[in-house]
Amino acid sequence: MVASVAHEIKNPAACISCNFEFLDSYYENLMAVLVAYEAEVTEESTKIKQLKEEEDFDFILEDLPKIIKSIGTASDRLTETLGSLHNFSHLDEAKPTLSDINECIDSTLIILHNRIKYSIEVIKNYGDLPLINCYSGQLSQVFMNIISNAIEALGDKMAEQKKASRAWQPQIKITTEILETADTEFVAIRIADNGPGIPLEIQEQIFDMFFTTKPVGKGTGLGLAISNQIVTKKHGGQLLLSSHPDTGTEFQIILPIFG
Ligand SMILES: Nc1ncnc2c1ncn2[C@@H]1O[C@H](COP(=O)(O)OP(=O)(O)O)[C@@H](O)[C@H]1O
Ligand SMILES: [Mg+2]
Repeated sequence: MVASVAHEIKNPAACISCNFEFLDSYYENLMAVLVAYEAEVTEESTKIKQLKEEEDFDFILEDLPKIIKSIGTASDRLTETLGSLHNFSHLDEAKPTLSDINECIDSTLIILHNRIKYSIEVIKNYGDLPLINCYSGQLSQVFMNIISNAIEALGDKMAEQKKASRAWQPQIKITTEILETADTEFVAIRIADNGPGIPLEIQEQIFDMFFTTKPVGKGTGLGLAISNQIVTKKHGGQLLLSSHPDTGTEFQIILPIFG
């Protein structure tokens, strides 16, 4: 589904972004001519004056660059989002491929942009990682599940803090680094939030299929169960939890580097 939608949008999006480059540079060329022209022609005819007034010439001159700029931003964003969706479209990829984990996380953040917006501060602390032989679409799914949970947990705490009129800055901190042991190297990805934490009594259960504390229709209880499968079974890695009500929750994904 995601793959086919992404595919459908790809060509028109490429057309927009490619032609935008021309639009932008033609606009600048036209402006250069216009400025030169206006400098030379000091006396304007009444006809030109009238036409300028009728067509709102001054306003257009002021508004046009803004419009062009915002189309450019939107077009960049569209291209970026499509790139991210592309990562997700490999969900049932048969073979692992060499992938950049930091890039996978960034793609996930772009997809979640609307839910993160400006209310949550995202602190990225990326290490210099080698390419990892992995199922990148599935790992993106893992990042998606864990970051979504963090956003939801932070949302809950935000509502609570607001009620108590306390100032508190919701944060998601993402760290990636290489861990070395005597004979192997691992990549560690830590995703931490300063949300409400997970009560000790349920910490054992959160990786169970269908375990959720969220209302019907909101939680499926599948996110962590699937993530755990992908990390352990598909990648021979580990998904670790550390959580405390005072500090929040941290999930750590550990992946062996092979290949
Ligand atoms: N970052 C987090 N902060 C607090 N609780 C969490 C967090 N991540 C997961 N949980 C708890 O783990 C449960 C299971 O998560 P998950 O498997 O993704 O299912 P769902 O999100 O559909 O409930 C959640 O219902 C929630 O109680
Ligand atoms: Mg979830």
